[in-house]
Amino acid sequence: MKTIIEPFRIKTVEPIRMTTEQERSRFIKEAHYNLFSLKSEDVLIDLLTDSGTSAMSAEQWSALMKGDESYAGSPSYYRFEEAVNNLMPFKHIIPTHQGRAAEAILSSIIGGEGKVVPNNTHFDTTRANFEDVGIKPVDLVIPEGRDPAADHPFKGNMDIGELENLLQTEADNIPLVVITITNNAGGGQPVSMANIRAASVLSKQYGKPFFIDGCRFAENAWFIKMREDGYGEKLIEDIVREMFSYADGMTMSAKKDAFSNMGGWLALNDDDWAEQARARLILTEGFATYGGLSGRDLECIAVGLKEIVDEDYLQYRIRSIQYITEKLDEIGVPVMKPAGGHAVFIDARELLPQIPALQYPGHSLAVAMYVVGGIRGVEIGSFMFGLQPDGSEVAAPMELVRMAMPRRVYTQSHADYLIECFEEIYRRSGDLKGYEVTWQPPSLRHFTARLKPL
Ligand code: F0G
Repeated sequence: MKTIIEPFRIKTVEPIRMTTEQERSRFIKEAHYNLFSLKSEDVLIDLLTDSGTSAMSAEQWSALMKGDESYAGSPSYYRFEEAVNNLMPFKHIIPTHQGRAAEAILSSIIGGEGKVVPNNTHFDTTRANFEDVGIKPVDLVIPEGRDPAADHPFKGNMDIGELENLLQTEADNIPLVVITITNNAGGGQPVSMANIRAASVLSKQYGKPFFIDGCRFAENAWFIKMREDGYGEKLIEDIVREMFSYADGMTMSAKKDAFSNMGGWLALNDDDWAEQARARLILTEGFATYGGLSGRDLECIAVGLKEIVDEDYLQYRIRSIQYITEKLDEIGVPVMKPAGGHAVFIDARELLPQIPALQYPGHSLAVAMYVVGGIRGVEIGSFMFGLQPDGSEVAAPMELVRMAMPRRVYTQSHADYLIECFEEIYRRSGDLKGYEVTWQPPSLRHFTARLKPL
């Protein structure tokens, strides 16, 4: 059979409240044109993020009842630790309430003015956490990874030559090297095993710990299985184990590839760093065996980690993203190619050439998607990344709009509706205008800034 079906049945439903275009025009104006300020019940198809939005399985819901809420030494923690260790055999597994808490704890250990951290592309919270402790985050993705139209099987790869240059010139200032799999801010593009290995070898050569931001590790493993020589016959679990075997530690948001609505962890091998991390954890998150999570969350992550490496699931997951990408491409909408793992990315610079970068073409497109179809995506461009720590503005390397697919939530008819909306948006694209920021906080402005159309 050619058709890949959703490998699940639906047991519980959440109604979607229908709205008209006129109502949505009003809602977005009242939200000061910031999609984060909308009430989610005023959104038809919510593709703001794939983070914490997964549908849990019957197994996960039943595991919640096994949650043991003991303050210290809960069996739920040990089940969580075992599930993580089964895939990522690090010595210390430190639970946190979500990914950025793990990043903040790691930052507190490695920070300091003048420090530099290379990554293929820092996600916005990673960047902000590093900057918060004086670290300069440097993005070293390969050139193809910065070109939405470039075809490359592993567009998330780190530029190994650039990494070596940086390791030479900043030798004393680099506390560690990070690689993000898949490369979220660069289009959800995968990183090859060869690249992970090469970055790890190089880091070790320069005496630097090598960390993985593993939020979407299973999707990355699927791409390796599909695209990299020698991996086609391997089990996803074994590919995952190999990826992490090259690392000295990881940060994780369990809200992505662990099917959990909340959670994360910091894992590492170094005893001294682990001791510092746990001290910080107790100060900011909670005791070492719950770290900001309830016992039931830990149970849910433990089950989620077993489900996420299922090949039927991963095949459906990646295919559903490819399906939308291909259909939008047929309409003429410039999409990032090849399709990434968790989201469809649209190149707004290409679609809306009339809007300059600092009038946020991606944001303009995201607002149009909401007004026309009730679809909520997110700009990943100059609105998200343009504001510098000194208050100036610089255009981002790409002006993208991301439609991130929650896991196991929407069906193919939702996808077909979305594609139809884009036919209309494409027709109107020449009339879309830019935006101006009327109020903003000093960092991570996209969450709360207010805007107005020009
Ligand atoms: N690293 C990456 C690559 C991420 O995509 C995210 C979150 C984080 C770290 C932080 O994790 O949200 O649990 O604190 N990304 C979400 C997104 C928010 O929509 O892409 P968190």
